[in-house]
Amino acid sequence: MGRDGEGGAARRRFLKASASLALAGFCGAPRAAGADAAYPAVLEAAAAEQQLAPAQYPATAIWGYNDTTPGPLLRVKQGGRLRITLANGLARQDTTVHWHGIRLPNAMDGVPHLTQPPVRPGERFAYEFDVPDAGTYWYHPHVASYEQVARGLHGALVVEEERPIEVDRDLVWVLADWRMTRRAAIQEDFNDLHDLAHAGRLGSVVTINGRYAREYPLEARAGERVRLRLVNAAVARIFGLRFAAHRPVVVALDGQPVAPHALDERGLVLAPGMRADLVIDFDGKPGGRHVIEDTYYPGDRATLTEIAYADGAHARAGARGAVPPLPANPLAEPDPAKAERHVLALQGGAMGALREARVRGAVLPIQRMLREHHLAWAINGVAGKSHEDAPLLELRRGRHYVLALRNETGWDHPIHLHGHVFRVLARDGTPVPHRPWRDTVLVSRRETVEIALVADNPGDWMLHCHALLHQEGGMMGVIRVG
Ligand code: C2O
Ligand code: CU
Repeated sequence: MGRDGEGGAARRRFLKASASLALAGFCGAPRAAGADAAYPAVLEAAAAEQQLAPAQYPATAIWGYNDTTPGPLLRVKQGGRLRITLANGLARQDTTVHWHGIRLPNAMDGVPHLTQPPVRPGERFAYEFDVPDAGTYWYHPHVASYEQVARGLHGALVVEEERPIEVDRDLVWVLADWRMTRRAAIQEDFNDLHDLAHAGRLGSVVTINGRYAREYPLEARAGERVRLRLVNAAVARIFGLRFAAHRPVVVALDGQPVAPHALDERGLVLAPGMRADLVIDFDGKPGGRHVIEDTYYPGDRATLTEIAYADGAHARAGARGAVPPLPANPLAEPDPAKAERHVLALQGGAMGALREARVRGAVLPIQRMLREHHLAWAINGVAGKSHEDAPLLELRRGRHYVLALRNETGWDHPIHLHGHVFRVLARDGTPVPHRPWRDTVLVSRRETVEIALVADNPGDWMLHCHALLHQEGGMMGVIRVG
């Protein structure tokens, strides 16, 4: 199934379908679990079926949480406690849940062997932790993520501010990317060596909240102000979104508030693992339609979906003030002047210069890494394979660090650090506007990105590429904070 091979027929179907989709809610609506939260008591990972492809295709066999992909939207108040049990209903694979972006105790981080035993089929694991930061987060397995996330195991977690900014609606969009056969079955070449050494597993069907994206328009009313929380749950696809004549204001990145600002000329670049909170004033005309384009990959201008205005105007239409900033989260401010500096060199991949790397202690030439271990990537000369590898870095608790992520490869890597958030200081020596807090930063080919953090959360934390086949292919390691 080709992503762009639909043309006019799809558009006509979309126009018909959109009428019946008006104001359709978020799939997998939460059940109440107390006054301060809305989420189910149990998340069961299991096989299910869902209509992901356009309507004329059959439903797709997926793996979901509580029978849906994305899994249920979890909502909890900032400072509240999340208590949720994972039940492994998969037939043959172990699993865990990683709470991406949440600064939680190490034992709740969901990394098999490193922070907890893997949860075997039929078993359960109770997660319980406080959520210190408001914002948009997500959850997914950390066992064979390149397969389990690609089969549909992922969902959004919203941590609500005590006083959110005033909007008419708060929407969550979980973006996913599926590699499908002509019969809309998930292609099972999850660990393809070519994908692994190149851009990762790119799909052919993009969904929003588990629905074929082009049949899932952003329903809007002229005059309303909407907060749109985007989560990129794709295993490799990077999005570069443009909202036609609209001027979205970025208020948070990876859940963390940022000085409200307009998108730059590249649009909203959202790599795997990343989130962005946008505030959009729908100032178009009733009945109007506007394409949301994805232009990240050169030469591939794809329609993600459309903004579809209802016929009437919003009741509260009228001039709005500037979008106010979100209240800051309680983060320790790193001071680059007193920071210790380290380099993390990202290496390998197709057409790269990496000739050999350390694999479980032994130095192997790249050909043997590939053939015998399915490894093509390394960080500082080590192809990360298991929890038994020595840590990449040992950081002292409470100290300040600047890490230079130096991409020596010909590929882009969204690098994610567990348990902490960091400020993005500079790209190739040029200061980054707003110095955003992030937990995942896109390091473009041959680029060096400097990040700064206070190592304030003790434990062994994963650092890895969120193109999940790159992670599996060696671009991962452990940062020890002790
Ligand atoms: Cu979202 Cu280690 O992952
Ligand atoms: Cu990568």
